[in-house]
Amino acid sequence: MVCLGNICRSPLAEGILKSKVDNSKVFVDSAGTGSWHVGEQPDPRSVDVARKNGIDISTQRGRQFSRTDFHDFDKIYVMDNSNMKDVLDLCPHPDLGKKVQLILDELFPNDNVDVPDPYYGGSSGFDNVFDMLDQACDEIAEKL
Ligand code: 4NP
Repeated sequence: MVCLGNICRSPLAEGILKSKVDNSKVFVDSAGTGSWHVGEQPDPRSVDVARKNGIDISTQRGRQFSRTDFHDFDKIYVMDNSNMKDVLDLCPHPDLGKKVQLILDELFPNDNVDVPDPYYGGSSGFDNVFDMLDQACDEIAEKL
């Protein structure tokens, strides 16, 4: 699960998908394309909305997406088109680029829909993001 800062959207996506899969069989992780928040806890607004929905993401720590992730993961879900470009810029081989997908393609295939960045908005943006990611992760979990 990849976003820009790895403190708002992708930590939620990681926590939500982990809550829906057998974690002894599926390894779920998240990362940001930027390095500003490496080592930090998720944004308190993400921690709160997750907790409100019964998920604890407070122990996650930010890390930066790296080229090796293309080899280490079968699937790379990005939150928006900007993340898509930044991730593909690091792609070591065109075949590996096929692993990258907009997460909301799970709900609206080929409509090119972004998960909005809630960082500069109020807390209602986080509820909205949670709901979108929850539905998308239902689709992902069903296929695993
Ligand atoms: P995220 O949100 O990509 O969903 O984690 C952001 C968090 C931090 C910043 C931008 C977006 N930032 O510029 O620090």
